[in-house]
Amino acid sequence: MTHSQTLLPTPNGPLQIASIQDAQLIQSVGSTGEALLNAKEIQFSLVIPTFNESRNIESLVSQLTGLLDSVIPGEYELILVDDDSPDRTWEVAQTLSGTYPQLKIMRRQQERGLSSAVIRGWQAAQGDILGVIDADLQHPPEILLKLLSQMQQGSDLAVASRHVEGGGVSEWSIVRRFLSRGAQVLGLLILPNVVGRVSDPMSGYFLIRRSAIAGPKLNPMGYKILLEVIGRGRVKDIAEVGYVFQERQAGESKVTWRQYMDYLLHLGRLRSRGRIARLRQRLPIGRFIRFGIVGFSGVFVDMAVLYLLSDPSTLAWGLTRSKIIAGEAAILNNFLWNDAWTFADISKRQQGWGPRIKRFLKFNAICLSGLILNVLLLNFVFNIVFGGQYRYLANLIAIAVVTLWNFWINYKLNWRVTQTK
Ligand code: GDD
Ligand code: MN
Repeated sequence: MTHSQTLLPTPNGPLQIASIQDAQLIQSVGSTGEALLNAKEIQFSLVIPTFNESRNIESLVSQLTGLLDSVIPGEYELILVDDDSPDRTWEVAQTLSGTYPQLKIMRRQQERGLSSAVIRGWQAAQGDILGVIDADLQHPPEILLKLLSQMQQGSDLAVASRHVEGGGVSEWSIVRRFLSRGAQVLGLLILPNVVGRVSDPMSGYFLIRRSAIAGPKLNPMGYKILLEVIGRGRVKDIAEVGYVFQERQAGESKVTWRQYMDYLLHLGRLRSRGRIARLRQRLPIGRFIRFGIVGFSGVFVDMAVLYLLSDPSTLAWGLTRSKIIAGEAAILNNFLWNDAWTFADISKRQQGWGPRIKRFLKFNAICLSGLILNVLLLNFVFNIVFGGQYRYLANLIAIAVVTLWNFWINYKLNWRVTQTK
């Protein structure tokens, strides 16, 4: 087997970019001493994601190599990441790697999709500047040198844009232009501080400094990897370079309606990033569930006592007297469970009979307030909101609100440490 035929191993695990130190460590363990001695240090790694691009890659690789050899000979790598294309793009690329020693090839068989292909490529990269370009020559290679020079002047991100001076699209239909701009406007509304930072947030042609995206787990959907890079990275300086989106020479686009859906979901996910987790930390959800379970157990205690006291076959006491005792039994039951389980961590810090009886009395008072609220709410929802209809739905709503109320007041006022010894 000749050297030119070896494939890059496919990284697995989370989609996360390593710092330059870690990346170099991984590379040096992986390669032979000889290879390390021969190689100049690679500073720029350009990923070329491909799917059925066998007819485009030779021209692309030769153009890219010609350009990069003129500025940073031996200091760059081209990483083609192919998703096991039916047209065997990866195999065609392998035949080129003898002529173009900077070309490295990854054949992915386990995963699919443009965005993850790009990140897997970056994970295998050695450079400090990472980049991506389409394989189909719709992204003009010459622009690359302008992007690179922006990075060398200190930008964290250099984006090839269709919407700045010198940019444009060649022969797009009015429908495609409309969809493209519509997607951007939507993005601006949902995610202004990400989408608004660049004129062409849909661009798939850009360079990014490794240090700006190393660390956080990336989780892009569909095609729009740039959103993820800006949304999760630490990108300060952004440069934009105009380019004209060329017509496809060979092969066909892989864009489907699915990509529009993915785009929307991706926007939503970036927007709610962290917020849901933070809310979950703030809201005592586990406690509330325990409180609900305890409340439910109280219903059975109430029923059982009511039966034992008031049923004609048992004690046959009066209904009101029986219900007061049954209700109080349920309150006692709920209090004991809440004290020992729902709020156990808090009652542990307030031990002794004194504080416990105080909690029990407060619990009673809160339950009473809940009962009053329950009656008022039932009347309000039934008579005013529903206009005298849907009695049981109204009761359900009243019970739900009162459960929340009971929980919240107990949590905030009752089970809390007031004095510690
Ligand atoms: N590995 C891999 N896996 N590559 C893929 C996949 C995939 O599932 N899907 C597409 N690609 C490759 C294609 O082979 C091509 O090199 C590049 O990704 C872009 O795919 P196209 O299907 O040609 O996309 P496009 O021309 O419609 O979209 C272009 O314009 C968008 C802006 O409107 C691309 O440049 C996008 O990156 C860009 O966002
Ligand atoms: Mn294309």
